[in-house]
Amino acid sequence: MHVIMISPGFPSDMPLFTRGLAQVGAKVYGVGDGGLSPEVRDCLADYLQVRNLWDEEAVVEQVLEWLRGKEVDRVECLWEPGMVLAARLRERIGVPGMTVEQTLPVRDKESMKQALDRAGLRTPRHTRASTSAQCREAAEAIGYPLIIKPIDGAGSADTHKLENGEDLERALNQLQHVPEVSVEEYIEGEEFTYDTVCGGGTPLFENVAWYRPKPLLMRQYAWLSPQSICVRDLNVAEIQKGVDLGRKVIQALGFQAGFTHMEWFLTPEGEAVFGEIGARAPGGRLVHTMNYCCDTDLFSGWAEAVCYGSFSQPSERRYNAACVFKRARGEGIIRSVEGLEGLFARYGEHIATVDLTPIGQPKRDHRQMVAGDGWVVVRHPDLQSTLEMADAVGTDLRLIAG
Ligand SMILES: Nc1ncnc2c1ncn2[C@@H]1O[C@H](COP(=O)(O)OP(=O)(O)OP(=O)(O)O)[C@@H](O)[C@H]1O
Ligand SMILES: [Mg+2]
Repeated sequence: MHVIMISPGFPSDMPLFTRGLAQVGAKVYGVGDGGLSPEVRDCLADYLQVRNLWDEEAVVEQVLEWLRGKEVDRVECLWEPGMVLAARLRERIGVPGMTVEQTLPVRDKESMKQALDRAGLRTPRHTRASTSAQCREAAEAIGYPLIIKPIDGAGSADTHKLENGEDLERALNQLQHVPEVSVEEYIEGEEFTYDTVCGGGTPLFENVAWYRPKPLLMRQYAWLSPQSICVRDLNVAEIQKGVDLGRKVIQALGFQAGFTHMEWFLTPEGEAVFGEIGARAPGGRLVHTMNYCCDTDLFSGWAEAVCYGSFSQPSERRYNAACVFKRARGEGIIRSVEGLEGLFARYGEHIATVDLTPIGQPKRDHRQMVAGDGWVVVRHPDLQSTLEMADAVGTDLRLIAG
């Protein structure tokens, strides 16, 4: 099995996926525009360092030139901005996997929802808009409350909830740098993920994570410690609604192999509503959290699925696993960490990992990196116990900057 891996060293989880490919016996050819750590380099049979990964035409030609005489079976990319490049390469080399036509809808929040509407799946009512007049028209047609967000947004950036026309005018002012937006019906309720590793067009591994609170609020309120909780029991009726929706979405989009990451809402009336989907692994340490949930290694599990269409690791859901992100109080340099000893005294055996910004380093901007000033994973077979521990990590663990 010969695999091209786009951007094998960046962002943070990519080295682990690259290692996964090597572990399942693939010969890995890396293509990227950065230098590599020795650990990543060791997993690669060869590396093509291009000047600019986003000059897609030039990269495709360079890769084809470089490949001469080399066999290639797969082209993989788990980083959102490189997915169209991967699809172009697949088409030019003639290997299976998502085409450009299949990739574009998962990068465009409007075409994605249009494809799902055609399949009869429940999406928020939505319109694409590129002028203020179109936004006002859409708001009129859909009715408040609304969400307005970039068509290709990430990390809830430039995303606004609108209660009325005044909010809309304020948002339009702030969105002048965004060329195209999606105007959507605001969906009340809790927000979840449905993540899979697929092979042969079906999910071989499935996960649901619960965001506490909704990502939009996580971004807005710097004082809170956001949680993503991989729930152990996917058979709970409410959760199963999202799993059912997710399976249909994957079928409707014709997804074949690799990671998918969908977000969905559970309304107070108990309806599951589609949010968005990416044909890639989730960020925000969620792959690690899934690993802690099942005592599995999804980095190599993914690699096995894309190379051979199988998932042979045991993946019984043993725990609810909660990832809690911390943001330091104050500004500047991290001066102290409080409360960690107390947490270990109370919950030691249930704390799976602690990875915080070290004392002496600058505080990180949680709007730039979801992990903020670090993450803690706690896990327990019982959901209520998991929530209690996660909340305790939220309130009792404090990083102080100054
Ligand atoms: N129609 C909606 N109704 C209610 N909330 C919404 C809606 N659309 C978006 N949101 C809120 O805004 C957040 C960001 O929206 P969305 O997930 O579409 O964009 P994103 O910035 O691409 O996120 P990601 O970082 O997951 O890629 C959602 O997680 C949700 O909290
Ligand atoms: Mg999202």
